[in-house]
Amino acid sequence: MTLAELEQKKAESLEAIAAAADAAAVEALRVAYVGRNGSIPALIKGMKDVPKEDRPAFGKAVQAWRAEVEAALAAKGGGSAGEKAVEADLTLPGRWFGLGSKHPLSRVIEESAAIFARLGFTVADGPELETRFNNFTALNTPPHHPSQDRTDTFWFGEDCLLRTQTSPVQIRTMMANKPPVRVICPGRTFRRDTTDATHSANFHQIEGLYVDRLPQKPVSLADLKSVLAYFAKAMMGDGVTVRFRPHFFPFTEPSVEVDFTCHVCKGKGCNVCKQSGWIEVAGAGMVDPRVFRHVGYDPEKVSGYAFGFGVERIAMIKYGIPDIRWLYENDVRFLSQLG
Ligand code: PHE
Repeated sequence: MTLAELEQKKAESLEAIAAAADAAAVEALRVAYVGRNGSIPALIKGMKDVPKEDRPAFGKAVQAWRAEVEAALAAKGGGSAGEKAVEADLTLPGRWFGLGSKHPLSRVIEESAAIFARLGFTVADGPELETRFNNFTALNTPPHHPSQDRTDTFWFGEDCLLRTQTSPVQIRTMMANKPPVRVICPGRTFRRDTTDATHSANFHQIEGLYVDRLPQKPVSLADLKSVLAYFAKAMMGDGVTVRFRPHFFPFTEPSVEVDFTCHVCKGKGCNVCKQSGWIEVAGAGMVDPRVFRHVGYDPEKVSGYAFGFGVERIAMIKYGIPDIRWLYENDVRFLSQLG
């Protein structure tokens, strides 16, 4: 084929495409010109028979033809844009690809951070791999305490462990800051627990710590209770209140366990709360003077409270999830239910 013939063919092809009446005609022309066995690929295959000196100009002309044909096809809604053209009927309903949704644990963490932010708490962070000092010693936990056992905790040598609680972030925060401090710390924690419906070796907590100076700003158990009561209402709904039960933690004195009114029966007693009307959600207490000493605070000059929530626990009661394992299985049938 000479260059002149090629130009002639090109003009014909463009005319034909311009005249194509419907999508089927456009598609037929696409196949005829640029389809696998179409005339343009055939010309490209036949390049080796073109005299060497003519090849560059001829090659250029063929490529230009191809580009123009493709542009013309596209303009008619054909070519590689063919599928789109069929869809270009804007009256058709859209295709739903699904949006995904936030994991219940992320929701609880984000919502908690937002609630505590309203009370002036900022978010602190700490590593999952901790030292014995931060996770136990500075938290006034003696070496013989069961939580330090090989059978309870994931140890890496003598001094290094996967944190068993978010409380070491209290230590880090106080060591790095002068009072007042007011932080929460959401994070992952690890214990050698056998997995079942209510246990997991890897779970999440939200730590809280508020310390202020004495004598100007004394912090009391009443402050702790009011903050947790506010959180309970904001997180679980109106009508949910808190109660404290005496307990023991090495790093708080006095220590309490915190219950929320059962949000299902509002305290009357039901299956969810085992007829008690209350659900345990956190440990808390006034920061022990020994902890203050470990971080270099003078216990005569500061007072404060700390608390630690189980994130899974809140998620399970808030969303009515009966088995903790569902939170880790990544089954979209479960995850998509929160929308
Ligand atoms: N760290 C404790 C636990 O894991 C909870 C807690 C935090 C208790 C802060 C008191 C103060 O059970």
